Amino acid sequence: MAKPQPKAKDDGPRHVAIIMDGNGRWATQRGRPRLFGHQAGARRVREIVEACPDLGVDYLTVFAFSTENWKRTQSEVAGLMNLFRRYITREAKALKVNDVCVRFIGDRVRLDKKLVSMMDELEALTAHCQTVNLTIAINYGGRDEVARATKRLARDVAAGKLDPEAVDEETLPKYLDTCVLPDPDLVIRTSGEARISNFLLWQSAYAEYEFIDTLWPDFTAAEFRDVVGGFGTRDRRFGAVMA
Ligand code: FPP
Repeated sequence: MAKPQPKAKDDGPRHVAIIMDGNGRWATQRGRPRLFGHQAGARRVREIVEACPDLGVDYLTVFAFSTENWKRTQSEVAGLMNLFRRYITREAKALKVNDVCVRFIGDRVRLDKKLVSMMDELEALTAHCQTVNLTIAINYGGRDEVARATKRLARDVAAGKLDPEAVDEETLPKYLDTCVLPDPDLVIRTSGEARISNFLLWQSAYAEYEFIDTLWPDFTAAEFRDVVGGFGTRDRRFGAVMA
């Protein structure tokens, strides 16, 4: 299937990706455990997903757990995994009713089997939905994704299914976790940090970036609307010189 192409210059972003940062600091500011911040962050996801149709955002991708996040304390990791399970249980019905197609990206091998089966079920339940495409990155790292994709590509070469001379920059994306998604037009990171932290490295080659000071649990639909609205004023050239 051909990959969807980025929209023309003056359009809003069709695909927005978000690094939801600042949950821990938000909780600490309130004298609460970090998990309290993650719980507030999970509630915020619903509001942002629901804002997408009016803004013309067809694809929303959120970074929920990175390949590096396993280095956090065992109790925070267990709390986050539990939160993902609860999110799926609590949100499944509303996601389907709101016509949201949910996909998960990242390496599932290290994830708890129960969580993986819940992810599979939510993907199946919402597979026919079309209004918004929500992609949740769990145990995701851009470098890890490229390495896994390269392994699959190499297997196809070894099996004689792919000619190495035919490999070009259209080939690798077909092996990435995001193979059915368009590249992000806009990447937002909350909490004031200006890093991309291994998120969608290949896919964001021509994305615009917005680094917002607001901590993720405070990031409202109104602020999302402002950031998305600002995108239309940008002059995206994709490396070319425009008249
Ligand atoms: C980064 O903030 C956030 C995370 C590692 C977890 C993100 C998870 C959620 C928003 C909730 C669950 C989401 C879904 C889709 C169910 P941080 O903990 O690094 O914050 P800090 O930099 O202030 O410590």
